Amino acid sequence: MLHLRSLLILFLVALPVVALADPPKREAPKYEKKLADPTGIGKVYQGREIAQVMGYQGASWLERPERVKEEDPDKLLEVLEVKKGMVVADVGAGSGYHTFRIAPLVGEKGKVIASDIQQPMLNLIKEKAKKNEVKNIDLVKATNKDPKLPANAVDLIILVDVYHEFEFPFEMVDKMIAALKPEGRLVFVEFKAEDDKVLILPLHKMSERQVLKEMEPFKEMEHVKTHELNWQHVIVFSKKKNEKKEEEKK
Ligand SMILES: C[S@@+](CC[C@H](N)C(=O)[O-])C[C@H]1O[C@@H](n2cnc3c(N)ncnc32)[C@H](O)[C@@H]1O
Repeated sequence: MLHLRSLLILFLVALPVVALADPPKREAPKYEKKLADPTGIGKVYQGREIAQVMGYQGASWLERPERVKEEDPDKLLEVLEVKKGMVVADVGAGSGYHTFRIAPLVGEKGKVIASDIQQPMLNLIKEKAKKNEVKNIDLVKATNKDPKLPANAVDLIILVDVYHEFEFPFEMVDKMIAALKPEGRLVFVEFKAEDDKVLILPLHKMSERQVLKEMEPFKEMEHVKTHELNWQHVIVFSKKKNEKKEEEKK
């Protein structure tokens, strides 16, 4: 029979674990309105107008051959350091351009979770996976506030050319952090707003500074490195091991 003393010890041991699991408190985001740019949604977050979502009708643009020269996807894979057995989430996966490059790298013991708000995009991935017999891709239908990833289960989340079009960026990041394992990485791949030679619509580009500013409320995340590709920044954040300690520092 479990004695009262053992129960008390159990309770005291369990307490810090429960406290650790509590999500950190942060300031609620402020979204403002403006007259919409033709490529924006008229909603402003931390001084930046949010871009319109790229419709599934434009999916072939995501598969254009020039992407290799403009975006250097092989170099991206190198800096992502994907390993066998990893769980990688491609949030805003579109037609799966990066999903299919990552799937062989994680191998059959790992998987890629392709999350998107547009079902026709997920259908494209489903068809291609069936045709090429790729079996380690899970498809997930996201909402505009939630990528619908499993909690504490993901090693790496990539956001390639997508964060700037999240209608609720704060809520999305909050959910993505909850999905990461300790030391899991959240990686923003965004067209460089600092470079006029990058021929992409202004609202579909982001500066490194703006990304860092928008990640500021998420104290449990640490900016570890920014890599530079031809047209994009690869801005890497890592989830700190001990959220509780970070909270206590405040
Ligand atoms: C410009 S495409 C990029 C696709 C892909 N990452 C690539 O590099 O080829 C952006 C994608 O993000 C998706 N998206 C936008 N908001 C989203 C959200 N809140 N959650 C998940 N996907 C989202 C869109 O449906 C679209 O397929």
